[in-house]
Amino acid sequence: MTKKLGIGIIGAGNISAAYLRLAPMFKGIEMRAVADLNMKAAQSRATEFGVRAETVEGLLASDDIDIVVNLTIPAAHFAVSKSILNAGKHVYSEKPFVLTLQEGAEIAALAAEKGLRVGSAPDTFMGSSHQHVRAMIDDGTLGKITSGTAFVMGHGMEHWHPNPDFFYQPGAGPVLDIGPYYVTNLVQLLGPVARVAALTSTPSSERLITSEPRNGETIPVGTPTTIHALLEFKSGAVISMVTSWDVWQHDHSNMELYGQEGTVHVPDPNFFGGDIRITKRADFVDLPSGWDHPFSVPNDGEHANYRAAGLSDMAIAISEGRPHRCSSELALHVVEVMTSILAAGEARSFVEMTTTCKRPAPIGPKEARALLS
Ligand SMILES: NC(=O)c1ccc[n+]([C@@H]2O[C@H](COP(=O)([O-])OP(=O)(O)OC[C@H]3O[C@@H](n4cnc5c(N)ncnc54)[C@H](O)[C@@H]3O)[C@@H](O)[C@H]2O)c1
Repeated sequence: MTKKLGIGIIGAGNISAAYLRLAPMFKGIEMRAVADLNMKAAQSRATEFGVRAETVEGLLASDDIDIVVNLTIPAAHFAVSKSILNAGKHVYSEKPFVLTLQEGAEIAALAAEKGLRVGSAPDTFMGSSHQHVRAMIDDGTLGKITSGTAFVMGHGMEHWHPNPDFFYQPGAGPVLDIGPYYVTNLVQLLGPVARVAALTSTPSSERLITSEPRNGETIPVGTPTTIHALLEFKSGAVISMVTSWDVWQHDHSNMELYGQEGTVHVPDPNFFGGDIRITKRADFVDLPSGWDHPFSVPNDGEHANYRAAGLSDMAIAISEGRPHRCSSELALHVVEVMTSILAAGEARSFVEMTTTCKRPAPIGPKEARALLS
């Protein structure tokens, strides 16, 4: 039987509900406690999901907690992850992992010194569709991928999130907030990035909240909200990635990769599932049969949502002594790509990457099934 590691959460906000709801599907993890600066928020989530509420200090001192999931806001990720490691616990952070390379290096050094694991979301690249694309790239179906496009554009977060302030401050914006899904998927499909360039703009200096309970309030914007980036991968592939929260409508597909034998339309990397379309040279063809991946099954309305798969993979990897897929090396390389895109936009020049990473191990139907209870 797979050993279960005790999981605690710091940050009882919006996304904590998804982790608490989905974790029981997975092997290797057991949700035990929730903490927050705001004790009321912790208590309310704890009651909702039948775990205990703790103060942050209480959670960090708890003997039954092995991994702490950091679901605080991006600006707090570094300090909270450090305090988790200093308490002798493994850390799994929501994205963005950290906000600077220096923070990432400090976390890596601390984890190495303490012999602890560090992992980070997103884990959507472990989804059925993205893994199917990975398999078709790795087995040569599409030929060598030479270029591609990624578009993630909309009109921001102030129409749905109850407290959208952080999305418009340094550490967020569309590149750091939604970019992790796209860049991580590109890195798992194509390998590490060599250099980036970008043009950025901030069309509005404030945004009007239309969600409840703060409908009518305006909030300041402190980071670019439209970013057009170029990414050159070490493989030689060149990708245009456009992210914006200033677009009402568009008809671009989420991600297209162009190989020497065909094209693949990749579904939104913000989700685990979605439709893939491929061509053999110029002609659309059926997908190769036999891909029966458990993370394709809709379990959240129409969506396949397997958030916590990366956490489960890390817990099992700790017990088995193997590398975990949502690694800090991958997350830090993605942070360098994203922060360099913003720096390139400011400097109006190319920025070379100083970090690299291995592609995470693929997770086919058999390996995915092994994570499920
Ligand atoms: N909301 C989503 O749909 C979503 C999806 C994927 C990822 N994420 C990521 O998850 C993280 C949290 O997002 P959210 O939407 O849940 O935010 P949120 O604002 O709803 O919740 C954050 C919670 O963290 C607490 N907090 C902040 N600083 C803290 C600290 N130092 N110590 C303890 N608690 C602290 C806050 O009190 C709050 O309850 C972000 O990094 C975000 O990018 C969110």
